Amino acid sequence: MPHVPAGTRGAVITGWGTALPPKVLTNHDLEQMFDTSDQWIVERTGIRERHVGGTTVGLSIESGRQALEMSGVDLAEIDAVVLATTTPDRTVPASSAAVQHELGLRCGAFDINAACSGFTYALVLAHGLIATGARKILCIGTDTLARITDWTDRNTAILFADGSGAVVVEAVDGPGQLLGWDLDADGSAERFLYSDIGGLIHMEGKEVFRRAVRIMVDSAQKSVAAAGVDIADIKLVVPHQANIRIIDAACERLGIPMERAATVLHRTGNTSSASIPLALADALSAGRVADGDLVLLVGFGAGMTAASAVLRWGGGAEPVNPL
Ligand code: COA
Repeated sequence: MPHVPAGTRGAVITGWGTALPPKVLTNHDLEQMFDTSDQWIVERTGIRERHVGGTTVGLSIESGRQALEMSGVDLAEIDAVVLATTTPDRTVPASSAAVQHELGLRCGAFDINAACSGFTYALVLAHGLIATGARKILCIGTDTLARITDWTDRNTAILFADGSGAVVVEAVDGPGQLLGWDLDADGSAERFLYSDIGGLIHMEGKEVFRRAVRIMVDSAQKSVAAAGVDIADIKLVVPHQANIRIIDAACERLGIPMERAATVLHRTGNTSSASIPLALADALSAGRVADGDLVLLVGFGAGMTAASAVLRWGGGAEPVNPL
């Protein structure tokens, strides 16, 4: 079906889903693999356990199906699957193509890689597609980092894990939920966090930590300014789940109380593109967000990328009738 560019048509999230592989790896399990301790990992990162296993396509199908079911959309009205991942199952084709097929969709499908900022990039992109005529988008963030983690390296193996989160984004009459956004990258910082094709993750943890706090704060402030809202009115901040101390430091500098942060990293570890949708879904399921509330998503990752978005939950508008 042809799509008429609608220019400024807005969008809202109408359904969400999550997937974590069944296998749980605790800090005590890691104690058996290299010289570390549960106490050190909890104190330095906040992580207690993580899920590992599965494929990017498999986890995406699981979270995507839940999001579609919750939104109750007619599958024929989904116009694109946008999958944020830094760990596709194959170099070619895009993992999103297999997800689209398995979910019974007939629409565009593509992957994007902005590392741990990927889901927020994908969400902004989905709003752009809707502004130019798309009706409904399935937006997924999935990573299977266990496959590119060096399980003998205690600097990285304590952090990374697998998971997936998905949302359905639907067109609405009016401006919709996205009030402001910021996407950023600094390719000069590539050497601090990278994995070569076929290789494993290399990370300079201290430098990544230092930059992460700064770029999260910077990106969040840009989105809040673009949205024209007061940071004190942010009801929920959904940060990238890398390290509780990074979240703590960023919240402190932003002047957002930690109680307003959504955190799941104690049981998920760092799931890269999946971390923000997993934390968002957890907060939504716990009833922490009501219609009209301001939600700030903010992430950072390899690249080094940063991305943030301010959403007015519910958008204050009814979904648009199908074209
Ligand atoms: N278990 C026990 N001890 C460990 C350890 C582990 N897993 N890893 C490092 N150590 C030791 C170090 O050898 C060092 O010992 P020393 O003082 O005798 O030399 C000490 O603990 C401190 O190490 P350091 O590297 O300074 O720790 P840190 O406080 O910087 O924490 C990270 C390390 C990786 C947890 C932290 O730097 C971090 O989270 N960085 C950001 C990573 C990130 O977010 N990556 C993803 C981006 S999307």
